[in-house]
Amino acid sequence: MRNFLSVHSIGDVEKLAQEAIEIKSNPFQWENLGKRKTMVLVFLNSSLRTRISTQKAAQNLGMNTIVLNLGTDSWNMEFEDGAIMNGSTAEHIKEGAAVISQYADIIGLRSFPTLTDKDRDYSEFVLNQFLKNIKVPLVNMESATVHPLQSLTDLMTIREFATKPRPKVVLTWAPHIKALPQCVPNSFAEWMNKAEVEFVITNPKGYELHEKFAGAATFCKNQTEAFKNADFIYAKNWSSYTDYGQILNTDPNWMVNAEKMALTNNAKFMHCLPVRRNIVVADEVIDSENSIVIQQAGNREWAAQAVLKRILEKL
Ligand code: CP
Repeated sequence: MRNFLSVHSIGDVEKLAQEAIEIKSNPFQWENLGKRKTMVLVFLNSSLRTRISTQKAAQNLGMNTIVLNLGTDSWNMEFEDGAIMNGSTAEHIKEGAAVISQYADIIGLRSFPTLTDKDRDYSEFVLNQFLKNIKVPLVNMESATVHPLQSLTDLMTIREFATKPRPKVVLTWAPHIKALPQCVPNSFAEWMNKAEVEFVITNPKGYELHEKFAGAATFCKNQTEAFKNADFIYAKNWSSYTDYGQILNTDPNWMVNAEKMALTNNAKFMHCLPVRRNIVVADEVIDSENSIVIQQAGNREWAAQAVLKRILEKL
């Protein structure tokens, strides 16, 4: 594997999740693989988990790491070809990315969607501008449409906690006060569609994900029905794809609470974090024994390490 951009960058998702589980049991087995190599992590947006877990993963493999908060630590970057740069952007991606590429053996990039320009976002404009102008592998640390490091972590966590070979996994939309990207649900859906699970998505009308990501998932408009016999409940808010970037529903009845969790097969509760308590999920659920959100976030390190290991092995 050269670049890790989405589920399509790898073959067998289950095999990579298993590799991440094995790395977790012996994290320093490959501590010299990345010796004298540097990963530059470029952030255009905020992060807690991705920032720390990916650095830690690279360091476990012997790499040096540098974090660059683009636009705050560095010059504002221009991404448009042919731009007349008489505004707030001082450095073009053509020079900026090419220069970073000389200091790095692997680059990580986080760049969220605009949520106003659907074509730009769904063409992965910023990610592709980086790809065009660098000469080293790129790791997607959440882009306009997907968050594959999170999805690999999610699959790894499901495998760790599953009590049957083919668990029922339910992705449920939940309310939020802000318009959020579709990256996490898009990505989760495309990974679950390739995994050995029974996968169900439940969301209110108008929140259907792009079919490219939702694929063969079973859809259930009734959240209560969807929860029945579930082994894992994965909650996430996202803004509308069809009415792009809009909030169409704020119904608090979609929040995950204990009453709904009681319908499940003693399901584990998952969320990628950060999460707004008592908006997305009730305290009684996220604080319960069935909540595995902390273990899930912990697994970000091992998932990132599995990905970086595969890239380093091909360098
Ligand atoms: N889940 C996740 O990507 O968290 P951060 O945005 O804090 O990195």
